[in-house]
Amino acid sequence: MNEKGEERSAEELHTILEEHKNHGKGLIPILLEVQKEFGYLPKEAMKKVAEVLGIRPVDVWGVATFFNQFRLTPLGKNHIKVCMGTACHLAGGRLVLEALERELKIKVGETSDDGHFSLERVACIGCCMLAPVMVIKDKIYPKMSSFKAEESLIPYRQESKPED
Ligand code: FES
Repeated sequence: MNEKGEERSAEELHTILEEHKNHGKGLIPILLEVQKEFGYLPKEAMKKVAEVLGIRPVDVWGVATFFNQFRLTPLGKNHIKVCMGTACHLAGGRLVLEALERELKIKVGETSDDGHFSLERVACIGCCMLAPVMVIKDKIYPKMSSFKAEESLIPYRQESKPED
């Protein structure tokens, strides 16, 4: 995030917390708003939330790590969603997810060290006839297998490579 982005986010965090003071919002709605603004829950923002709510930072951390809708790291440049709805699960979604974890050397909910890829499991995305399905950025990849999933990463990897 650049300096302007950081400034805007700091202002936005301030607005979210001010609104809490006025409306007495609970921890989870506040964390959801913080995540909407930053794309994840930065440690500094969680500390600030704890301070404003008058609770221990470890309690905010506990909630953030308990619910899997919260992210503790920023999304990668290429965010991958693997559908684990019923149709996709039955058609081998788990194998697709495991292949991506192996290939990218990250677990679900993590971002690669170079920031190029992040991985998430999602519920049904509404195209069950194409199961198992994954999405990279906004592009849907139908009828996936472990091999096809690994192969689908190639253009995104090439796009990420520095030019010679
Ligand atoms: S279960 Fe995957 S698209 Fe519906």
